[in-house]
Amino acid sequence: MLEARPPAKVNLTLDVLGRRNDGYHELRSTFLRVGLSDRLTMDLGAGPGDRLTVTGLAGAPTEGNLVLTALDALRRHVAAELPPIDVTLDKRIPAAAGLGGGSSDAASALKLACECWGIALAPAEELTLAASLGSDVPFFAHDVPVATINGRGEHVSPIAAPDDDIGGLLLVTPPISLSTAAVFERFDDLPMRLDEDRLRDANDLWPAAASLEPSLPRLREELERATSVPWLMSGSGPTLFAIYPSVEEASAAGRSLVESRLPELESAILNAVDLIGPDPNWRHP
Ligand code: C5P
Repeated sequence: MLEARPPAKVNLTLDVLGRRNDGYHELRSTFLRVGLSDRLTMDLGAGPGDRLTVTGLAGAPTEGNLVLTALDALRRHVAAELPPIDVTLDKRIPAAAGLGGGSSDAASALKLACECWGIALAPAEELTLAASLGSDVPFFAHDVPVATINGRGEHVSPIAAPDDDIGGLLLVTPPISLSTAAVFERFDDLPMRLDEDRLRDANDLWPAAASLEPSLPRLREELERATSVPWLMSGSGPTLFAIYPSVEEASAAGRSLVESRLPELESAILNAVDLIGPDPNWRHP
């Protein structure tokens, strides 16, 4: 049995540079891999088709899961009869949360299936397949700790590891569902903001997400008040995160937030992570 631990990411910055003719948006973003991972296993199966079992956190689909799409894409790419695979996916990264979990699962699935089938892809082939699966998948296919991404997400430039200021992060994922497509659509509908407004936030998608889901700005205000540090949104949300000098401090901040019983934190998932992982230092529940 082959095993991988697909990691999550946060976006330290996210600039939307414009809308393209194909409906996607031109982005510039800094992706940071964080120590919170799903668990993916693969084995040759009895068939007739690939089989996927999903366990762990709710919210990730079985049918239509990007992991199965990745296997199909790989089969089509090599245009050969390849035996069915049994896959297990244990979800520990909240799904549809702005943490890239599904994209990371897909990138790991490509690598693991190649190993299972004894296929070697050229890096450029792997990246093309990755980009066909989703905008965030190429970052994870590169398997680097931090990178600047451009285009729709397909241009990945690894950069030096962030300075020691980022020892840990506290991730707060409220039980809100925000579709990435809906957030980009709202971004297009919102009036152009002044540059001054844009500079106030590291994530251009924040006003769009906040206007779709008014509980999100309330949560952010409460988190900033309770912790006295700035909070940012990852990707198209709804996960908010704060940076700490160490993972111990991130964990302590998480514990005291849970103790404070803020109504805005009801049913939220908290993870205190370092940049190595694969598992968080502390989590709630
Ligand atoms: O590429 P992915 O399937 O993850 O994107 C989901 C949706 O998010 C797209 O259908 C599109 O509406 C929006 N999107 C975008 N520009 C990007 C990435 C995603 O408009 N660069």
